[in-house]
Amino acid sequence: MSARLKAPLGALTLDNPFVNASGTYGYAVEYADFVDVARLGGVSVKGISLEPRPGNAPPRTAETAAGMLNSIGLANIGIEAFVRDTMPRLRELGVTVIANTFATSIEDFVELAKRFDDVEGIAALELNISCPNVHAGGMHFGVSGEAAGEVTSAVREVTSLPLMVKLSPEAGDICEVARAVEAAGADVITMINTIRGMVIDVDRRRPMLGQKMGGMSGPALKPLAVRMLYEVYQQVSIPIIGMGGIGSLRDSLEFFMAGAAAVQVGTANYAEPGISLRLADELDAWLAERDLALTDIIGVAQD
Ligand SMILES: Cc1cc2nc3c(=O)[nH]c(=O)nc-3n(C[C@H](O)[C@H](O)[C@H](O)COP(=O)(O)O)c2cc1C
Repeated sequence: MSARLKAPLGALTLDNPFVNASGTYGYAVEYADFVDVARLGGVSVKGISLEPRPGNAPPRTAETAAGMLNSIGLANIGIEAFVRDTMPRLRELGVTVIANTFATSIEDFVELAKRFDDVEGIAALELNISCPNVHAGGMHFGVSGEAAGEVTSAVREVTSLPLMVKLSPEAGDICEVARAVEAAGADVITMINTIRGMVIDVDRRRPMLGQKMGGMSGPALKPLAVRMLYEVYQQVSIPIIGMGGIGSLRDSLEFFMAGAAAVQVGTANYAEPGISLRLADELDAWLAERDLALTDIIGVAQD
């Protein structure tokens, strides 16, 4: 990847600004046979908890006109199996790994951070304080500045990894949450997670998903995500990674121009697992034509 694509995020610099979003790319090893996963800017792995989780009852996904709903419920193999079985393979493949973690208590977020701190080959820790798909906890940390600040500072105390905190569009005031996590020591803000939606199966006269509601992702989310990022950029000085509905170069340019230092690509991976590499090449050509570097366009749509 060319130098013009470098994406500085404080202590961490990504080779290119396209990271695959948590929950939409498994643990990345699943794609290694047909995508050069080492060339990705990074992969935020499926949210990892202390214990393995089976996830929610099916059906867990539903298609919508401009994206999808999911209520996976954070099914994952748990930190022990991830560190023992998956990390060696990810190191071998040379993947830039962002460890996305999920817990329902501050103590468990702290325990996860402590255990990841010693693991070789983790580029950053991403706290998912914004998952709408579990009954107990998760999102409640992400909807109030006070709770988000508390969990961030507790984790900050025990980790030396670059700390990313993922915000929820369901926060009453996302700027307040962003300011709180910055003040509590986050290095990077990632935004946004999904927002709850519902699809009704009219034949059964019941909600389609087993959990009734699911997190909405894909193209429908993009204008909301860009607006929120544009606003948060004005209120914090740490870098922001933007996401929500990115499926083309122009989509990603909107996020960069609103102020994103890098982006994550989620739902679009289902249709095209190599999309992030294609977008990185397209961005490279777009920047070269204009004799620009990525850092020259970040936030240029701001007043
Ligand atoms: C099936 C699915 C599973 C997801 N699981 C997680 C997760 O485990 N942790 C997390 O932080 N976000 C999770 N997300 C949210 C995505 O990382 C991302 O924030 C969201 O989908 C918006 O981006 P997109 O519109 O490009 O998909 C999940 C999304 C989908 C579609």
